[in-house]
Amino acid sequence: MTDASDDYLTANAVPADRELDASLRPGSLGDFIGQPKVREQLELVLHAARARGRTPDHILLSGPPGLGKTSLAMIIAGEMGAALRVTSGPALERAGDLAAMLSNLVEGDVLFIDEIHRIARPAEEMLYLAMEDFRVDVVVGKGPGATSIPLEVAPFTLVGATTRSGALTGPLRDRFGFTAHMEFYEPGELVHVLQRSAKILDIDIAPEAAEEVAGRSRGTPRIANRLLRRVRDYAEVRGDGRVDVQEAQAALAVYDVDELGLDRLDRAVLGALVRGFGGGPVGVSTLAVAVGEEAATVEEVCEPFLVRAGMIARTPRGRIATASAWQHLGLQPPADAITQVHGVRTRDDTLFD
Ligand SMILES: Nc1ncnc2c1ncn2[C@@H]1O[C@H](COP(=O)(O)OP(=O)(O)OP(=O)(O)O)[C@@H](O)[C@H]1O
Ligand SMILES: [Mg+2]
Repeated sequence: MTDASDDYLTANAVPADRELDASLRPGSLGDFIGQPKVREQLELVLHAARARGRTPDHILLSGPPGLGKTSLAMIIAGEMGAALRVTSGPALERAGDLAAMLSNLVEGDVLFIDEIHRIARPAEEMLYLAMEDFRVDVVVGKGPGATSIPLEVAPFTLVGATTRSGALTGPLRDRFGFTAHMEFYEPGELVHVLQRSAKILDIDIAPEAAEEVAGRSRGTPRIANRLLRRVRDYAEVRGDGRVDVQEAQAALAVYDVDELGLDRLDRAVLGALVRGFGGGPVGVSTLAVAVGEEAATVEEVCEPFLVRAGMIARTPRGRIATASAWQHLGLQPPADAITQVHGVRTRDDTLFD
């Protein structure tokens, strides 16, 4: 198989994932593994809304790619017995696109806007009013003759997902009643995810093999599921299909996933930072150019995990490699390399603010 994920194992969804994501999506809050805090908070919000017979407050789901934001949006609609309408920030280029979407909503609908930080300004301003007052002003005509026609919108719940809540404007962020901050998963939780997926996909995986894969999944269920598929390929081609720890290790070596779960892009970023810029500080856009990637990918996909793994520190002057980053690349850290990242936070808003 040669889908993009074969040589590019980042957390971003690739086409081959979409189908897999869909078949492995947890269907209810009870089925959703990990994120105990988010689950508890959501349970309360949804339960209270149901008891009051009202639509729940608008909900913002924020966190790095592949942690389950889209899955949670579907679960929210499911738990409320509501229909889910799906769109995304980049698709809402003109306010008219959003107006059409909003005016078609039925009371209680859940409107899911993925990548909401990429919504265009006019649509965003229309959204403020819709979120607050359940109405929109549609401007008809141009120039002095333009008139604005108020339109009512049925009470709905907006669920926004973002990998960069720091990039949201204040007014938009303030209109969400509740923000769920998704954190990277613990290895034990990923073992759980893997076991569940293995069962659905009918893969025979030994517990130690699941642990091995979980430990290298960058705290991310999407990556765990993807590695599971790669490991299965290996076991089917080179073995009898059963995944033992030896198969898991050998397969992960073939796909260049190292023992911390860093993939090629992560290592390229670290390598550029350490070898190209002497450990930094260096700005993220310079770093992105050095590895031939978009700044947003480096910032939203690689960085959160590298920061959490204590490999890089963000400072006002730029990114700095820690002593562990040098060591991970097999290099002697300079005497003044920082050894500890203070105040490591995985919440993306604190990371990106
Ligand atoms: N808590 C979980 N339990 C089980 N599986 C999960 C969980 N969270 C995510 N997954 C699986 O991981 C995959 C990715 O999840 P999802 O698409 O919801 O992530 P996302 O946060 O929306 O990613 P993106 O930012 O790229 O849109 C799905 O296949 C889903 O089945
Ligand atoms: Mg998603």
